[in-house]
Parts: sequence; C-alpha cells; structure tokens
Amino acid sequence: MNQPVVSDTFATDSELLRRRESAMGPAYRLFYEKPVHLVRGEGVWLHDSEGRKYLDCYNNVASVGHCHPNVVDALTRQASTLNTHTRYLHDHVVNYAERLAATLPGDLSVCMFVCTGSEANDLAFRMARTVTGNQGAIVMENAYHGNSIVVTELSTEEYPAAERPDYLVAIEPPNPYRGSYRHGEPALGAKYAAFAGDAIEDLAERGHQPAMFLCDSIFDSNGALTAPKGYFHKVYEQVRATGGLCVADEVQSGLCRLGDHMWGFEDSGVIPDIVTMGKPIGDGHPLAAVVTTPAIAEEFSRKFRYFNTFGGNPVSAAAGLAVLDVIEREKILQNVHDVGTFLGSKLKALAEKYELVGDVRGKGLFYGVEIVRDRATLEPGEAEAQGVREFLRENGVLVGTTGPLNNVVKIRPPMVFSKSNAELLLETLEQALDSV
Ligand SMILES: Cc1ncc(COP(=O)(O)O)c(C=O)c1O
Repeated sequence: MNQPVVSDTFATDSELLRRRESAMGPAYRLFYEKPVHLVRGEGVWLHDSEGRKYLDCYNNVASVGHCHPNVVDALTRQASTLNTHTRYLHDHVVNYAERLAATLPGDLSVCMFVCTGSEANDLAFRMARTVTGNQGAIVMENAYHGNSIVVTELSTEEYPAAERPDYLVAIEPPNPYRGSYRHGEPALGAKYAAFAGDAIEDLAERGHQPAMFLCDSIFDSNGALTAPKGYFHKVYEQVRATGGLCVADEVQSGLCRLGDHMWGFEDSGVIPDIVTMGKPIGDGHPLAAVVTTPAIAEEFSRKFRYFNTFGGNPVSAAAGLAVLDVIEREKILQNVHDVGTFLGSKLKALAEKYELVGDVRGKGLFYGVEIVRDRATLEPGEAEAQGVREFLRENGVLVGTTGPLNNVVKIRPPMVFSKSNAELLLETLEQALDSV
C-alpha cells in the first residue's frame, strides 16, 4: 500500500489537464491556481505525482485519515467476498444500520442508505413532503446541500435569488460577525430565529406551508458559523408549529467533527426529525444515509417503496462499520476535542496579531478564518484569502476558501490530526499571513 511513488508513471499535469477537459468537459473545477496532482494518501498526508508531501488540512471525507488500514481491509475483504444490494438479506447492512442509529439521540432509529449527501437531502425532502403534505422549504441564504435538480434548488449559493422556486424561502444565517445582529447584542438566538417566522409568513402568502426546515449544522458554505444559544430550538418550534419537519444536514458537521458530540446538532440540544449524512461516514468510500423516526419512516412507506441499487450494499456497509470501529478504538471524538481546542485557541490568537484576520469561527476540527482588509468596514479580503490558500499550497499545506464573499480560509482536516500537525499548520499560516 505504501510503495514509493515513481513520478514518471503519471501523466504530466499539463497533459492531464488538457485530456481531463476534453474527456470530462468544462463544468468541473480544480482547487488551486496550480492544481495538485495527487497519487497517494496516508493519514493526514497526501502525496503528489512528483513525490511532494502535503499536510491535508481540508479533507473531511477522509474522516479517520486517508486510506485507514482498517477501513481498507474491511473494504477489500468484503469486496472479495460478495457485493449485492438491499433486496437480499445481509448482516453487514443491518449491523451498520443498528450501530449508526445507536449513535443518534431520541427516536432517530431508522436508517435508509444512499450513496451521496445530495441523494440523502433529496430523499429527506421527499419524505418531508410526503409525511407533512406540505410543499415548502426553508433553507439558509448561500446554502449548499447537493446537486440533484431539487437539491440544487435548495442550494441557494448555486444560482441567483430571482430564480428561486415559489416553494422556497431562504433566511439569513446567524452570523454575528457581519450579519444583521452583531456580537454583544442580547438575544442573538431569538433575533436570528425570528427570520424563520418571517419565512413561514412569506410562504403562506404564496399558498405554501413548510414541509421542512433544512440546515447544515456548521453553516459551511456561509463560512463556518456556530448557531447562537437557543437558535435551533426557536426555529424548530416555529417550523413544527406549522406541521413542518426539521432536517439536520450533518454531511459537514457530523461524525465527531465539532468535537463535543457525535453529531453537530447535538451542540444545540435539539433533536431533528430527519438527519442526513454523507461524506465522512465512509472515510472516502461513497456512503450516505438518511436517519429518521419509525413514525416518519412508516408514513413515508405507506406511499413509497425505496430502492437504491448501491445504497446499503455490503461493501459500503463494511466500510461504515470499520469507520465506527476506528472512531471508538482511536478515541476520535476526544482527539477532535483536544486538538481542536488547541488549534482554535491558537487561531484566535492570530486575530490579535494580524489585522487581516477579522474573525475566527468554528469548533472541533472545523474552522473558518475570515480575512478582511478593514476591521471597521469589514471590507472582505478575497484576494488575500486566496493568497493565503495559495501560499499554503506552495508550502505543503492544503486548505480551502469558502463563504459568500469567498474570503474565509477553511480548515477542516482528517480527524486524526495531531497537535504537531496543528503546529505545522499554524507556523505555515503565519508565514502566509506575513506574505500577503
Ligand atoms: C452540507 C452539505 N450537504 C450536502 C452535500 C452534498 O453531498 P454530496 O457531494 O455527497 O452529494 C454537501 C457537499 O459538499 C454539503 O457540504
């Protein structure tokens, strides 16, 4: 598995770029001005075709580390034994459904398997519409939830507001750094939650009621936000009063990522009606799920059967089980908490040293570092954020940028990230901030 990379076995970057565009078309995007041509991963490290090594501070999909040997072993053993689908009995998929459900609170005990977060959100919306009889949806401004037709509509960052369908209202996310209500004001949770009440009224004027309120618990595409106290409670209360369901999109925030609980919504003490999850649960293998209550699953099944050829196949279930084993054995939640606390406090200290660092947000191993040109006007430093990202890439550390203004440096490493990995990131980040 860990054979040294022989660079001349790979196409040159320029040749691969040309062939990629012609074979895959122009819709795809690459990270970085000089794309990274990766050939191997191990833990928190990625290796390119020329033998360069990068500290991965971005990829949450490789949740317990790139090519974790236990996950690879579980995958290969099951792939060489049998792969089928959910129309046959198989132990792995049932074991996985039970173990996954056991990580969730309340009545969230029925798992339906899909392959991507997009499919999970698509199914959640179909369930919500079926069960409530309502058609509407409330999401955040600048949300991202996936790529099917309907989920693209729910992904308000993807297209102009004027093109939103009639059933959809987007509300302002709780951003006390630059939103309508700022740090220091009282009752931030209630004030931001009131936007959900306005959305319900807007929908009613158009003849709709919400089937669901859908929210990513870490507001990733809004630059990593933490809901203020009481926010989700108050939003859920209003949505449920109209008969709507509350759906937590845990594709980003789930599986220990935020360091205090297995699932991001647990930080707020709410229990959603439906939870969608994807990316990290298969450690790189395409595995995703919708978890709901027996009552909702039952009501949905009165109208629809569900089959997904690859969702819930035994190889994917083996990967999911291995990931849950690693999380327990390697005490991943504790690691995220400990390394995340260290990293978060050091990142916050950067805001005191560098004028450019306007705000540091997030928790666990998910941080957004917002770059501004002027702390008083909050003028976004988009070019500077890109400069930081590119400097880091050139110096062997991979991060991303995000947010509605594209000025937030996103740090979200595999969760086996260590304190010394964090120190290397911080040291290189300081050099990057000095350079822009
Ligand atoms: C919050 C959130 N939900 C859903 C998705 C869609 O997941 P997938 O790309 O697996 O379809 C993403 C993907 O980035 C996401 O960030």
